[in-house]
Amino acid sequence: MEKIKRLTIKELLRSAESMVNTRVDVKGWVRSRRGNKYVQFVALNDGSTIKNLQIVFDLAKFSEDDLKAVTTGSSIHVQGMLVASQGKGQTVEVQAEEFELYGTAPVESYPLQKKGHTLEFLREKAHLRPRTNTFGAVLRIRHALAYAIHKFFNDKGFYYFHTPLITASDCEGAGAQFQVTTLPLNELPRTEDGKIDYSQDFFGKMANLTVSGQLEGELGATALGLIYTFGPTFRAENSNTPRHLSEFWMIEPEMAFYEIEDNMDLAEEFIKYCIGYALENCRDDIEFLAEHFDKELIDRLNFVLHNDFVRLPYSEGVKILEESGKKFEFPVYWGVDLASEHERFLVEEHFKRPVILTDYPKEIKAFYMKMNDDGKTVRAMDVLFPKIGEIIGGSQREENLEKLEGRINELGLAGMDWYVDTRRFGTVPHSGFGLGFERLVLFVTGMQNIRDVIPFPRYPNACEY
Ligand code: 4AD
Ligand code: MG
Repeated sequence: MEKIKRLTIKELLRSAESMVNTRVDVKGWVRSRRGNKYVQFVALNDGSTIKNLQIVFDLAKFSEDDLKAVTTGSSIHVQGMLVASQGKGQTVEVQAEEFELYGTAPVESYPLQKKGHTLEFLREKAHLRPRTNTFGAVLRIRHALAYAIHKFFNDKGFYYFHTPLITASDCEGAGAQFQVTTLPLNELPRTEDGKIDYSQDFFGKMANLTVSGQLEGELGATALGLIYTFGPTFRAENSNTPRHLSEFWMIEPEMAFYEIEDNMDLAEEFIKYCIGYALENCRDDIEFLAEHFDKELIDRLNFVLHNDFVRLPYSEGVKILEESGKKFEFPVYWGVDLASEHERFLVEEHFKRPVILTDYPKEIKAFYMKMNDDGKTVRAMDVLFPKIGEIIGGSQREENLEKLEGRINELGLAGMDWYVDTRRFGTVPHSGFGLGFERLVLFVTGMQNIRDVIPFPRYPNACEY
């Protein structure tokens, strides 16, 4: 074949006007082939965009036999003239002059034959599902959101701060950690009193995968001022819900000199920026998902973008729930850790917009949150979203040495000396929050299940690939 610069389908469609009636070079995977004995149409996709490029094979030039192996899922390289298309659904198409087959995908064995496979079926074929329109769209949006997040913080003067994945501390104190060890599990070394001898383990102590980079993030913020983390976190809780993963990505900004109001302002601005960025830059993909899965998606995204979030203390939220007369599956009373049905009632039925709930009872929140003067509640803030429930969890941090040490002792936490040093030396008011990346992707794509917005989901009993 002639040496011509290969263009992605996205590039080609972008400059189609100036390229009409020139010879082009494209490569991709066949989505479908149809036609009659005079002409065959191939829908070609290369992942660069949701849009397929139509390749027209004139059967005066190619034999049926030539095209036999050009089946759904096969990969080809085509050269031909880019011409204005007479057909519906595309403005240009390629009139094939030459092609080569890279790889076949036999009809009998390639699993993604028809359109409209269920998401459950595709979850079983997660190694191939990125090749479907749906997952292509989700994964391109996921990428755009990741880029938007870095751009947002970079433009605001935040530094990307890398926190460890293997850690000896437990940030959230929920005990839902995966242990990291090289000890022989069938022959554990024991100390004299029968306990496992971690001094013989790889790190000389017990170690786990992190549930959050926050504690180390605070070390960064009390030095660099404004930092954010963006990395994987791991939770060994046995939650089989459409909103929980065992391995998920979290963005955790941490800001010196921020009080809780500044924290809320940042969270709202941040999440709106991400949604706005996706609406502007992922239009085709969002429209595809809206059409196929969620007709109200674009309205919902615009609504969140253009309305202020409600800000409300937990105590008032509980009062609204108690007085709602609604039958909840889980009971509501002051002190309870709100369930997703409660959060969604406040957001979807009562206020009909996102809600930032603040000042939770200290018993249901982590040790590091700043105590309010009432001695009962802490300066927490959870951002609650339609269809998702909690999308962000954060707080102002306890900067007072005595109070923080008091909480640590009350809860019997050990090995926190390095963390407490931030309060011993040059302590400052500071705040931060964590955004669950997949929950954001879930919201922006309108998908129903968090397992469908990460390429290779991990959840109880699922660790393929
Ligand atoms: O509320 P969480 O547990 O808060 C923290 O980890 C804090 N250290 C954050 C901070 O202040 N820096 O988790 C934060 C967010 C939740 O609001 C939710 O969006 C997401 O992380 N999240 C999960 N996402 C998917 N699967 C899970 N199992 C999740 N658990 C939490
Ligand atoms: Mg939380």
